[in-house]
Amino acid sequence: MVLGVIGVGSIASAIVSGLCRDEGPRDILLSPRNPKKSAALAADCPGVRVAESNEAVARESSVVLLCLRLSDAGLLRGLPFSKDASVISVMAGISIRELGDIVGPVKNIARAIPLTSVAARRGVTPVYPFIEPARSLFAHLGTVVDVADESSFNLFSASTATIAAHFAYLGRISDWLTARGIASLGARQYVAAMFGEIAGSLQAADPDFQQLAKEHATPGGINERFAQIMTEQGVWDAVDGGLDQIRRRLEDR
Ligand SMILES: NC(=O)c1ccc[n+]([C@@H]2O[C@H](COP(=O)([O-])OP(=O)(O)OC[C@H]3O[C@@H](n4cnc5c(N)ncnc54)[C@H](OP(=O)(O)O)[C@@H]3O)[C@@H](O)[C@H]2O)c1
Repeated sequence: MVLGVIGVGSIASAIVSGLCRDEGPRDILLSPRNPKKSAALAADCPGVRVAESNEAVARESSVVLLCLRLSDAGLLRGLPFSKDASVISVMAGISIRELGDIVGPVKNIARAIPLTSVAARRGVTPVYPFIEPARSLFAHLGTVVDVADESSFNLFSASTATIAAHFAYLGRISDWLTARGIASLGARQYVAAMFGEIAGSLQAADPDFQQLAKEHATPGGINERFAQIMTEQGVWDAVDGGLDQIRRRLEDR
């Protein structure tokens, strides 16, 4: 099996690095754009080659992994995919129906939402529909989640829109310290250490966010009070509202 990758950026690099963590035989063909990344992956991983064009990836691969930004999806139209090939798209916001229209004769199409933890084979990857070869590809890189329908898949996809806001939240806390006289580097290091340390508790097999919140909120203490203020200010409602808006945007396309 030749696994082709079109769009070799952050997530494609994580997937290919994860697949290369063992010595097993593989044949991975990368699209040539972003030559530094492709060449580095090919140098690090035996069995990884850089193709001369996107056309060559489509023509020669039995499984094609689409890792382009949504705005570049149009370039897939007209590529010479084989009708017996399988396509796996990790591109947010492009439905199975749209993909079917774009990748022409290909019928076996799945979507997945990998996280960069696939590089360490610690991914938790929603897959829809739950078919081969998408299922086994991501099972190799951690856990796979069997998603029942595309609407549920879009819910997982919407939840990934919160990552930048998470870092913005941390930035806001450290900026608050700095604005009140704490040196910027010390503030940033302190906030990073605080959240970096507690992130370890998310590695549990059955994470319980309510319980974690409780464990970090001494009754009558400042954590409990801050959470109450966030509730009173409607912050959690804003989170729900934001996620609903992102979900609608994904559904409306
Ligand atoms: N990053 C994540 O954690 C993550 C997770 C799940 C899903 N996704 C989805 O995966 C997709 C890619 O995300 P990303 O973060 O990996 O983006 P990215 O780092 O920007 O990667 C996209 C790659 O596609 C390349 N590209 C652009 N035009 C091309 C062309 N004509 N032919 C071949 N390659 C071309 C880009 O090259 P240039 O940089 O030279 O333009 C870039 O290397 C997105 O749709 C995103 O929603 C990302």
